[in-house]
Amino acid sequence: MEGELVDLQKRILELKKKRNALIIAHNYQLLEIQKVADFVGDSLQLAVKSSEAKGYDLVVFCGVKFMAEMAAVLSPEIPVYIPAPEALCPLASFVTADKVQAMKQEHPGAPVVVYVNTTAETKSSCDIVCTSSTAVEIVESLGVDKVLFGPDKNLAEYVRRQTGIEIVDIEPKGHCYVHRMFDVAQIALLKEEYPDAVVLAHPECHPEVQDVADYVISTGKMAKIVEKSTSKTFIIATEVGLVEQLQDKHPDKIILPAYDGAICIQMKKNSLEKVAEVLEDLPERNLVTVPAHMVGHIRETIERMYQALGRPSIARTAN
Ligand code: 13P
Ligand code: SF4
Repeated sequence: MEGELVDLQKRILELKKKRNALIIAHNYQLLEIQKVADFVGDSLQLAVKSSEAKGYDLVVFCGVKFMAEMAAVLSPEIPVYIPAPEALCPLASFVTADKVQAMKQEHPGAPVVVYVNTTAETKSSCDIVCTSSTAVEIVESLGVDKVLFGPDKNLAEYVRRQTGIEIVDIEPKGHCYVHRMFDVAQIALLKEEYPDAVVLAHPECHPEVQDVADYVISTGKMAKIVEKSTSKTFIIATEVGLVEQLQDKHPDKIILPAYDGAICIQMKKNSLEKVAEVLEDLPERNLVTVPAHMVGHIRETIERMYQALGRPSIARTAN
C-alpha cells in the first residue's frame, strides 16, 4: 500500500503517528482520505469508534459537522478535530429545536426520535436519536403507537412501512438533496443491462426507489452485503464515495452507481490538504465543540439508543 500513496498521504501518516491521532472517515469521504484513515464506516460505526478512542491524543474526524459533534460528545477527554468545519449537512437544517418543541405541544406524550443528521441543539430537544441502520429498531423499542420523527421524510416513510407505527413527520419537507437524485428509471435502465445486479438503496432515497431495491440499508450494511454476497454485480443508490470504496476493495465485482452525479458537496469539503493542515497546526477553528449545557442530554439520547440496541453503555466504552 505504501507504494501507492502520494506524498501528502505519506506526510499525513507520519503526522498521525507523531500526534498519536486516530483518523476516522465516513464512507462518503474522498477515497484518498479513506486510505489514510484508521477506520471508515457509517454514522453509527463512527459514533461507536469515537467512544472507543481511548489511548489516542486526538481524533481527526473526516465527515460532516453533526457526525464530528457526536464524536466530541462521546469522547469528552480527547479533542476532536474536523478538517472542514464548514461541512454542514443540509438535511440537518430542516428541523430546529423550536420546531421540535412546537410539535411536542401538538402531540403531547409522543416520544421524539431524531435522526443523527441534526444539529446539537435539535438533539438536545429530543428523547432518543437513531441512525439509518438503527431507526426501525429504535422506534420499535419505544413500545408506543405514535412517534414524532425527523428530519428525513423518506427514512420516516421507511420506518412507517417497516413498523406499522404512526410516524409523524416533524418537518414533512425534510430530505437529503443527494439521495433525491436517484430515480426508478435510471435503476431500471441499469437493470436492463445487468439483470442479475443486486440493488442496494439508502433509506433516504424516495420510497419508489426503496421499492425497487433488494435491500434498503445504511452505508455500513451495504459494505457488509457486498463483502459477504456471492453476487458479482451491485447497483448502489447512495453517495458515490461508497461506490468508489467498494469498487476499490472488490476489483472482482462490478459496483455501479445508481447515478454517478450523486455527490455530497459538504462531505467533499474535507481534503487531504485540510487533514494534513489539522495534524500540523491543530487550529482552534477546527476543534469541534458542543455547548456544555447540551452535552449531558445528548449523551443520554445516544445512551438510550445504545441500550435499545443492546450495546454496552457509553460509560463503559468511553475514554
Ligand atoms: P449512514 O449512517 O448510512 O452512513 O448515513 C449517513 C448519511 O449522511 C446518509 O446520507
Ligand atoms: Fe447530509 Fe445527504 Fe450529505 Fe448525508 S449525503 S451528509 S444526508 S447532505
